[in-house]
Amino acid sequence: MCGIMAYIGKKEAYPIIIDGLKKLEYRGYDSAGVAIMNGSLSLYKKQGKVTFLEDFTDGKKTNGNLAMGHTRWATHGIPSDYNAHPHTSQSGRLVMVHNGIIENYEFLKTLLKEKGFNFKSDTDSEVLVQFIEWYQVKYALTLKEAVRRALQDVEGTYAIVIMDTIAPNKIIVAKKENPLAIGLADDGFYIASDAGPMSKYTSEVIYLNDEEVGELNIDGSFSVIDLENNEIASIVTSISKSNDNYDKGSFDSYMLKEIFQQPDTIKNCISTRLDVANNNIDLKAVDEHKRLFKNTNRIIIVGCGTSWHAGLIGEYLIEALANVSVEVEYASEFRYRNPVINQNDIVIAISQSGETADTLAALKLANEKGAFTYSLVNTPESTIARHSDSVSYIKAGVEIGVASTKAFTGQVTLLTMLAIKLAIIKETINPSEVQKYIKAIHQLPTLVEGALKTKNVIKKIVKKLSNNNNALFLGRGLNFPVALEGALKLKEISYIHAEGYPAAEMKHGPIALIDENMPVFILATNDSALNKLVSNIQEIKSRKGIVVLIKNEDQIISKELADYVIEIPKVEEILCPIISSIPLQLISYYAAKFRGCNIDQPRNLAKSVTVE
Ligand code: G6P
Repeated sequence: MCGIMAYIGKKEAYPIIIDGLKKLEYRGYDSAGVAIMNGSLSLYKKQGKVTFLEDFTDGKKTNGNLAMGHTRWATHGIPSDYNAHPHTSQSGRLVMVHNGIIENYEFLKTLLKEKGFNFKSDTDSEVLVQFIEWYQVKYALTLKEAVRRALQDVEGTYAIVIMDTIAPNKIIVAKKENPLAIGLADDGFYIASDAGPMSKYTSEVIYLNDEEVGELNIDGSFSVIDLENNEIASIVTSISKSNDNYDKGSFDSYMLKEIFQQPDTIKNCISTRLDVANNNIDLKAVDEHKRLFKNTNRIIIVGCGTSWHAGLIGEYLIEALANVSVEVEYASEFRYRNPVINQNDIVIAISQSGETADTLAALKLANEKGAFTYSLVNTPESTIARHSDSVSYIKAGVEIGVASTKAFTGQVTLLTMLAIKLAIIKETINPSEVQKYIKAIHQLPTLVEGALKTKNVIKKIVKKLSNNNNALFLGRGLNFPVALEGALKLKEISYIHAEGYPAAEMKHGPIALIDENMPVFILATNDSALNKLVSNIQEIKSRKGIVVLIKNEDQIISKELADYVIEIPKVEEILCPIISSIPLQLISYYAAKFRGCNIDQPRNLAKSVTVE
């Protein structure tokens, strides 16, 4: 995984790198490092977050017009100063940052050791920079040529930025599978793992393609070749200047800020899509391929983590409203199991970041097998968006907290509109139902605001339960995937072991865990499942479990059944996953807070998983 930021040009590079790395910490925050060239090389590396690196460089020499930085998510070698990037070659001449995995690194390392190379880190990345130097010296090559030739022998994935301290007037970049964007500006070149960090400096970006090598010179000239040494005429893409706000504002964490942004982010997602006048949903991506969507009988949804949970909700909704068969697959399984894809199948990729390696690979596989691909992503111009036949944006704005909140409710909102849209196209819904749903979606932002008012009640409940080390989340129907998501959220940021289950499945195993130390969060907001759920609650109570009931304000359920009750506004049933998610987000937030955990950057995780 990891994030890369580099600059070569007329400006002071160091502040650009630090600012960029902070925006790339969603890709990892185990350690950070920066190399600045100014006559000599200044190299600083520190375990931990970018702010630790910033503190470490305080008062040290950081000026120069050429620099590269890295924020790491450890794959090979523990998080430490010495495993942090940038890595240097044997002679110290080459310096490089890398995102990806060099799969044949052990073979290359053995080879290099036999030739007398020593290693200062446990990383596969150091092997690559050493290997490039070996090529450069042995065949007396320019750095660009050494990179091109070395990469032909490399198995794995990479986005690299490398420079030669003997010729510090250029930067060489290359990529395969991991993204690398080059921003073109009058003052120089900005290089980063995504276009976000450069969007305030330029609107012109080149996305390097796989197995391309670029040379960016300090005089503003550049060239791109492929690994066979053919010149490439790169396509310059326009990106919009980012208005994204990276401040926490008055909140103590990005996660809490993002939870409270949801009335606005949902409004953003629906505002141009609810066509009240024509009783329709405007989804350009679907309208442009209407015949295809009308004729499809099977949709496959792929995603990872929270996005996979959103996909499960999509399955329930699309099957119920549009009568299309839907399968939801973990992208990491789908890509390796030779799945059957029929003509007229549509593969939908769901991703907040648009960069998840497994989801991207699943999408590419679907493309290869001739399926029509449609992605629901949050990050504009992301790799998944660019590789899809069609795309709809979630429009939640930049999400920084590792635990996805506003992107998830955005995904589910979009999937709900998609299900209705498909039902309209396939004529499986009548106009009065469409009208009812459009009206209900229109009210969503206000109802989410209502659900956020549970904050203080939840704080009190969680304070009493946050010392418990296990929890169960139960729901039925549309609330089952929400239960999975609630459990994932709690695990991610509070390190409490939690499981999500369909309530009726409890009898097939998890019930054995229930005792007076087991909080069980029960989602009862969908009326159609209520009666059955009440029986499940009885089963928990009679085994002394701690019942936390999440219900609609107007549902009548005996209070005796629950130890704690959280009441949220009633919504049209198809929208209950969105409203039910809100208290679960707040539960995990407070659990993490009471347990003193790092809410935005939990241990071992990254916001975007760009390795498989
Ligand atoms: C990581 C994140 C999750 C996210 C998942 C998929 O695990 O921590 O929050 O749901 O990746 O990411 P994507 O960007 O594809 O939605």
